Amino acid sequence: MLRHVTTFLVLVFAQAVFLLPKVDVTGFRQHEGPMLGINEIPDLSTRVLDYKVNVSLKLPIFKTDTRFLSHNVESAIFNKTNFNFSSTKLQTLMRGLAPAYLRVGGTSSDFVTFQNPCKEEVAKRNHHKQTILCPQDWIRLNDFCLATGLHLVYALNQLKRTEDGQWDPTNTEKLLDFNTYDVPAWELGNEPNSYLSHANISLSGEQIGQDFNVLRTIFNKRSNYRNAVIFGPDINIRGAIVTTIFLERFVAATNATNGTTFHCYYLDGSTATLDDFIDPEVLDVLPGEINLIKSTVDKYYGKEAKPMLGETGSAYNGGAKNLSDRYVAGFMLLDKLGMSAKMGLDVVMRAALYGSDYTMLDLDNLDPKPTYWSAYIYKRLVNTTVLEANVVNTNSSKDDRIVRVYAHCTSTEKSGYDAGAVTLIVMNLHKGHSANITLLQELYGQDVDQYLLTPHGPLGMTSLQIELNNNLLAMVDDRTLPEIKHVRLKGGRQLVLPPLSYGFYVVNNAKAESCIG
Ligand SMILES: *[C@@H]1O[C@H](CO)[C@@H](O)[C@H](O)[C@H]1NC(C)=O
Ligand SMILES: *[C@@H]1O[C@H](CO)[C@@H](O)[C@H](O)[C@H]1NC(C)=O
Ligand SMILES: *[C@@H]1O[C@H](CO)[C@@H](O)[C@H](O)[C@H]1NC(C)=O
Ligand SMILES: *[C@@H]1O[C@H](CO)[C@@H](O)[C@H](O)[C@H]1NC(C)=O
Ligand SMILES: *[C@@H]1O[C@H](CO)[C@@H](O)[C@H](O)[C@H]1NC(C)=O
Ligand SMILES: *[C@@H]1O[C@H](CO)[C@@H](O)[C@H](O)[C@H]1NC(C)=O
Ligand SMILES: *[C@@H]1O[C@H](CO)[C@@H](O)[C@H](O)[C@H]1NC(C)=O
Ligand SMILES: *[C@@H]1O[C@H](CO)[C@@H](O)[C@H](O)[C@H]1NC(C)=O
Ligand SMILES: *[C@@H]1O[C@H](CO)[C@@H](O)[C@H](O)[C@H]1NC(C)=O
Ligand SMILES: *[C@@H]1O[C@H](CO)[C@@H](O)[C@H](O)[C@H]1NC(C)=O
Repeated sequence: MLRHVTTFLVLVFAQAVFLLPKVDVTGFRQHEGPMLGINEIPDLSTRVLDYKVNVSLKLPIFKTDTRFLSHNVESAIFNKTNFNFSSTKLQTLMRGLAPAYLRVGGTSSDFVTFQNPCKEEVAKRNHHKQTILCPQDWIRLNDFCLATGLHLVYALNQLKRTEDGQWDPTNTEKLLDFNTYDVPAWELGNEPNSYLSHANISLSGEQIGQDFNVLRTIFNKRSNYRNAVIFGPDINIRGAIVTTIFLERFVAATNATNGTTFHCYYLDGSTATLDDFIDPEVLDVLPGEINLIKSTVDKYYGKEAKPMLGETGSAYNGGAKNLSDRYVAGFMLLDKLGMSAKMGLDVVMRAALYGSDYTMLDLDNLDPKPTYWSAYIYKRLVNTTVLEANVVNTNSSKDDRIVRVYAHCTSTEKSGYDAGAVTLIVMNLHKGHSANITLLQELYGQDVDQYLLTPHGPLGMTSLQIELNNNLLAMVDDRTLPEIKHVRLKGGRQLVLPPLSYGFYVVNNAKAESCIG
């Protein structure tokens, strides 16, 4: 769906150099039995590497939005009959991800026309790329969000233009005339710096900024919309220089936004390989992209910039087949969340909740995929305050790229943990080595609750199912999500992650000052 070319000039990395011999990761050996029970020594067929992790409990680095982990669907979702807004199963699954934004946008948003009145049959009959949005669609979408705790971000069609090249808000005003909901946020257009390839039209950053001013003006004319939230410009990263120029012209032309959105994908879905998905060099492209956007918008907006990933995933072009929806996609999801929070992004909206190869839910029956379960556990355990966490005392500077650790205050509302608890997000990208992690300082010797996520079944990295502490994760029934059960590692026990695995670890008794009060 997304055709952008990430030719990111400042980030040319040498090819991945693993410290270790390559192994066939698709068939990597499953760990058998309850290897991580309280008093058991792990059965490790592989060599173990020791790591030490230091978490700073005093100084928070950043506080994200409460909806930090959020989700995307294409605007053409209304045409997808399996994504049924009134489905009990879908609503149950969505409650498990709340609070979150649901962005209805993407390439298709610039081909949507609101029609009122409109016949249901017309809505389902899309001509070329065009989608018809009917009053019933709008009501169903908003009611669905209200029922599940999702906060709608709705992208308006920017390609409705007048003959003299300005944005034409006529169709948007028609929707506003009809709308009675308090829509949490609006957007205008999608990847406007790529309109030439999406729609054979070229618009400057300045013109896009002026379009946003028109949107703010029509909101200001309506008393219900005076404080309306607008996110934009949803640019993608096409190369450091052209991206910066486009964004600078945009921010110089408008103060209409309440958050600055940009899009990042690590890979091209049509060429990405399994090795790319577990390559630290690929994951380490993101910080440069975040810095590029932040340095530009901070200059103009300061604290009001609120930079956010408005659409992001493992791979563009709809994701990588048999990879973007598998166990292995969890590395990119969790690393992106950890890295983005650490670097000061307010929100990360993942593509896609439903649709294409990166879908979180099965396209036919809505069964949750591994990335859904990672997101679900994330919501249960991770609060907004971000803490500094580092891999220390390693023999090689590569170690903190292969074993990756992020820390947050623990969510207390749904988890039963105490204020002051700390949650670690940990990934081991070694293909053949377990990581044996000792926590330092205040966390040394504390009991740690382990939520280790490993693939289920013989497919290994490309499994469609995932285990939490060796138990398969699945819905109990359409109304019930499973309990998230930990394994307690008693005081002083190290965290041991098998090769190519990830997980969450909670230190309940951390008494982190940053997390209390
Ligand atoms: C761990 O972090 C603390 C500050 O929070 C610092 O004083 C200490 O030197 C660090 N230890 C190591 C081994 O890096
Ligand atoms: C919309 O649905 C119809 C009927 O199912 C299908 O033929 C058409 O390709 C769909 N259009 C889009 C853009 O998905
Ligand atoms: C959507 O789900 C509702 C409730 O489960 C059901 O009544 C309705 O028939 C479904 N619609 C479609 C198009 O499957
Ligand atoms: C793109 O637009 C130009 C005119 O603006 C037109 O000449 C050209 O044929 C269009 N290309 C495509 C692929 O539609
Ligand atoms: C969004 O920005 C507009 C314009 O700066 C402002 O009037 C409005 O109060 C902001 N909304 C929120 C919720 O901050
Ligand atoms: C945006 O706000 C700043 C600071 O108030 C002001 O200097 C600038 O002219 C404004 N830009 C636009 C396009 O309104
Ligand atoms: C994806 O997996 C299916 C079987 O699950 C297989 O038929 C198909 O060829 C695979 N596609 C690619 C591109 O690997
Ligand atoms: C560092 O090297 C020593 C000696 O070879 C080894 O015992 C230790 O496990 C290594 N540490 C890491 C983190 O690799
Ligand atoms: C996050 O922590 C704050 C206190 O810092 C608390 O008020 C809030 O309820 C927590 N959120 C969740 C989801 O636990
Ligand atoms: C993990 O490291 C600790 C401390 O370095 C050590 O005592 C323990 O034996 C190691 N565990 C494994 C499984 O190697």
